[in-house]
Amino acid sequence: MWSSSVSLGDELSISGLSATDLAREFGTPVFVMDEADFRLRASNWDRELKKAFGNDAGTVYYAAKAFICTEVARWIKDIGIGIDVCTGGELAVALAGEIEPSVIQVHGNNKSLTEIDKAVSVGVGCIVVDSLVEIERVAAAALKHGKIQKILLRLTPGIEAHTHEFIATAHEDVKFGFSIASGAAWSAIEVVLTYPSLDLRGLHAHIGSQILDTDSFEISAQRLIALLAKYRDAFGVELAELDLGGGYGIHYLPGDEELEPSVVMNALAAAVAKNCAMYKLKIPQISIEPGRAIVGPTMFTLYEVGTIKDVLLENGDTRRYISVDGGMSENIRPALYSAEYTAVLANRTSTAAPVSSRLVGKHCETGDILIRDIDLASDISPGDLLATPATGAYGRSMASNYNHVPRPPVVAVNNGKARIIVRRETEADLLRLDI
Ligand code: LLP
Repeated sequence: MWSSSVSLGDELSISGLSATDLAREFGTPVFVMDEADFRLRASNWDRELKKAFGNDAGTVYYAAKAFICTEVARWIKDIGIGIDVCTGGELAVALAGEIEPSVIQVHGNNKSLTEIDKAVSVGVGCIVVDSLVEIERVAAAALKHGKIQKILLRLTPGIEAHTHEFIATAHEDVKFGFSIASGAAWSAIEVVLTYPSLDLRGLHAHIGSQILDTDSFEISAQRLIALLAKYRDAFGVELAELDLGGGYGIHYLPGDEELEPSVVMNALAAAVAKNCAMYKLKIPQISIEPGRAIVGPTMFTLYEVGTIKDVLLENGDTRRYISVDGGMSENIRPALYSAEYTAVLANRTSTAAPVSSRLVGKHCETGDILIRDIDLASDISPGDLLATPATGAYGRSMASNYNHVPRPPVVAVNNGKARIIVRRETEADLLRLDI
C-alpha cells in the first residue's frame, strides 16, 4: 500500500522528509512519489520475467497510461525496460525521455493516421494492431517510409476477468482487438500476411486491470498458444512472440493482496510451458505490460483538510463530511470505478476516538467522494494533512481540470531529497488555451 521509504511514526514521512515539510514546500494537494520504489518495482518485474523465461524472455513494457512524465521516461531508459504508449502524446513523452524507439510498443484501438505515421517514422519497435482498418494503415505507412514494420495483433481471448466492468477488456463485447472465438483473429492474421511491409511478430492480449488472481492470465495464455499452434500448422513457421499485457493488481486497503511478480511469472511460465508442450511448440518470447503494479504503490497524495460538517442522517446517525483541497479532479477512480482507498492523518498522531466519516473533495458535485466510509480521528480539524496511499496509477494520469482546478504537481523523493518532476498547474496555465 505504502512505498518502501514511507514511515508512519509521529507523523508520516518519506525518506526522512515529513508530510508537514513537504506540504509547506510544495503545497497541497500533491502527489509524492518514491523514486527508489519505482525503480525497484520495475526492475523486479524485469528480473522475474527473465528468471521465468530465461534468455528467450521478451520485454517488460511499462504501461505509460498509468503515469508518465519526461523524468519517469528517463528512469525507464535507465532501468533498461521498454514502454507501452497508447497515444501520440505518450509517444512524445517517451521520446522526450530519450527512450530508444526500438523498445517502444504502440497501442490504441483508434490510432490516428498522424500517430501511425509518427510511430513508423521514428522507428518504434512494435505496433500492436487492433483492427482491419489499421492493418491497412500501418502497412501503408511502412511502405511510405520504406520500412518493414513489426506488429503484434491484439486479440480478445473471451475472458471475463474478475474486475470492474469498465477495466475488463477481453470478453467478447468490447471495442478492443480481434475475437479469437468468432474467427476474426484468424481472418486478421490472413490479411496481415498479404502485406509485405508488415512483419507479424506474434500475438497480444490484455485481459483487464487490477486483477488479483493468476487464473485469467493462464487461460489467456492457453488460448493464444492454441492460435500459435494453428498458425504453425497452417504456415509451417512459428510466431516469435506472445505479449500477455498488464493488469496485475495491487494493494489499496489494509488487508488487500498484491500480485507479486514472482507469483505471476511462475504461474505464467508453467501455463506457457504446459500449453506449448501440448502443441509441440517452442516457447515464444513472452512480454508483459505492467503499469499499475509498477507505479501504483510508489505515490501517495497529500491533502489539506478544509471544511468539516456533521450531517444528520434519516436514521438518526451522524455522518462527518471532511473536505480536502482536491477530489475527483485528481482521483476520479472512486467516482468512476467505485475504487476504494484509505487515508491517514499525516501531520501528527491522534488518540481521539474515531468517527464515521466521508472524505470528499472540493468539486461542485455530490459524487466527488474520495472515500465513502472511513473512521477518522474526531479531532481532525482544518489545516490537518491527510494522505491517501497507492495513488500512483491512474491518479495524476487521469486528472482533469474540472471546475478549473489546477492539476497537482508530482514530487519525487529519493535519498532524503525531494524534487518536482511535474509542476503544479497555475491559473495562467488554465487561461493559456483560451482565445
Ligand atoms: N496493456 C494494455 C494494452 C492496456 O490496455 C493496459 C491498461 C495495460 C497494459 C496496463 O494495465 P495495468 O497493469 O496498469 O493494470 N483507468 C483504469 C485502468 C485502465 C487500464 C487500461 N489499460 C483504472 O484506473 O483502474
